[in-house]
Amino acid sequence: MTFKNGFLWGGAIAANQAEGAYNIGGKGLSIADMKTVVGVDKERFFTPKLEKDVYYPSHQAIDFYGHFKEDIALMAEMNFNVFRTSISWSRIFPLGYEEKPNEEGLKFYDALIDELLLHGIEPLITLSHFEMPMGLVEKYNGFASRETIDFYLRFVEVVMNRYKDKVKYWLTFNEINFATISKGTLNILGMNPNGKYPLSQLPDDPQVRFQALHHCFVASAKAVKLAKSIRPDFMVGCMLAHLTVYPYTCKPEDVLLAKEYDLLLNKFCGDVQVKGKYPSYIKSYFKKNGIEITFEAGDAEALAEGTVDMYTFSYYMTLCATKQEGVELSYGNLMGGAKNPYLASSDWGWQIDPVGLRYTLIDLYDRYEIPLMVVENGLGAEDQMNADGEINDDYRIDYLKKHIENMALAVDAGVDLMGYTMWGPIDLISAGTGEMKKRYGFIYVDMDDHGNGTLKRTKKKSFNWYGEICRTNAQSLLEEV
Ligand code: BG6
Repeated sequence: MTFKNGFLWGGAIAANQAEGAYNIGGKGLSIADMKTVVGVDKERFFTPKLEKDVYYPSHQAIDFYGHFKEDIALMAEMNFNVFRTSISWSRIFPLGYEEKPNEEGLKFYDALIDELLLHGIEPLITLSHFEMPMGLVEKYNGFASRETIDFYLRFVEVVMNRYKDKVKYWLTFNEINFATISKGTLNILGMNPNGKYPLSQLPDDPQVRFQALHHCFVASAKAVKLAKSIRPDFMVGCMLAHLTVYPYTCKPEDVLLAKEYDLLLNKFCGDVQVKGKYPSYIKSYFKKNGIEITFEAGDAEALAEGTVDMYTFSYYMTLCATKQEGVELSYGNLMGGAKNPYLASSDWGWQIDPVGLRYTLIDLYDRYEIPLMVVENGLGAEDQMNADGEINDDYRIDYLKKHIENMALAVDAGVDLMGYTMWGPIDLISAGTGEMKKRYGFIYVDMDDHGNGTLKRTKKKSFNWYGEICRTNAQSLLEEV
């Protein structure tokens, strides 16, 4: 078993979960800047205005803005050849609808990208990762308005032109399929909840949400076309949170339900972005649910012309679907489901399923036959530093090891896999909860859930282990399998 030559090994972060400096260098507020940390009630809130004496984790985050040179040097020490991050939209267009970009924001990314290249690390850029400028949220209700397509494309054009000789790999929207469920209205679509809401209970109108998602699809497709006009060999990908769903039992009704979930939650967005058109099953779903999507002239052509070059996704856990009532439930990334009795769970209740990653890769490659990339995968855990200042995160090594082994087995089964960026190579704030104690990294950051700490970086035990994976193209691991 072997991964192909030039396989991309590295890690992934997002600007709003790492950079901090939320109001430095001309940056405007983004939706991420309006989110609190979970409280005793375990809820994270969105506040439409910044409130006094409230802690907003993105404002400081881990100050990657001030530490990026040190942090990238550590990634280089782990032999990364790729690093995924996002360009904060509101650093470049503070309100989102200005005519001209903010030069100071661009200068930050000039320095960051140059630093990556200096270390031989290929940047992989997410264009929109849960960080729409609040200006667009307030004035246009995000992607609920078609105008937002053009504001997004203006941003894309600026950064793609600026970095055309330095960045080859781009992702249009992080976890776009989050918008197929009500919780995705804010993160993906930037729709204004018009009040203070827990993120799990945002107001939702499926008609408006799916129309806004249509605008996102058009924006993504036009971004792909734009990319090719700027540099034909750009590789542009879709990015989905793959919510792999198993039937809870082999009862045909459960099998069918799992299939329906898969089509709605995963395949709908993948099919539009890879195949360039709406699939028949979603048209039927819309009809049954009274949803009508307005296609303006040119939309169908735009979708067909702007199909992606690679399918990328996040994978953390799997879910089970059942018609049965009263079954035990489990939590997960974006959503939960019935608890799978065969799987263990993380400290946050996410079911750990390395074989499910192999299943997912085989399923996706069978359907799409374009290169795949796992751009997020990792274990959020409450790491403890011992009296000697060491963090012995063997559980993280075990989690990653099993997932990487299953990727190799998927490659062995014929899948074209081009890379792997584990989530959160350096501890950063959680998107779901805003917590710091939910740590994913190989690098520990001294900070607590309220922003207290020195921000000092410390290597965990997994640091050297992953460094060997990257250095040897995982042969250090696979020889043992
Ligand atoms: C993905 C997001 O959903 O999962 C990341 O793209 C996020 O932004 C990651 O951080 C892990 O989720 P969480 O809630 O543990 O941070």
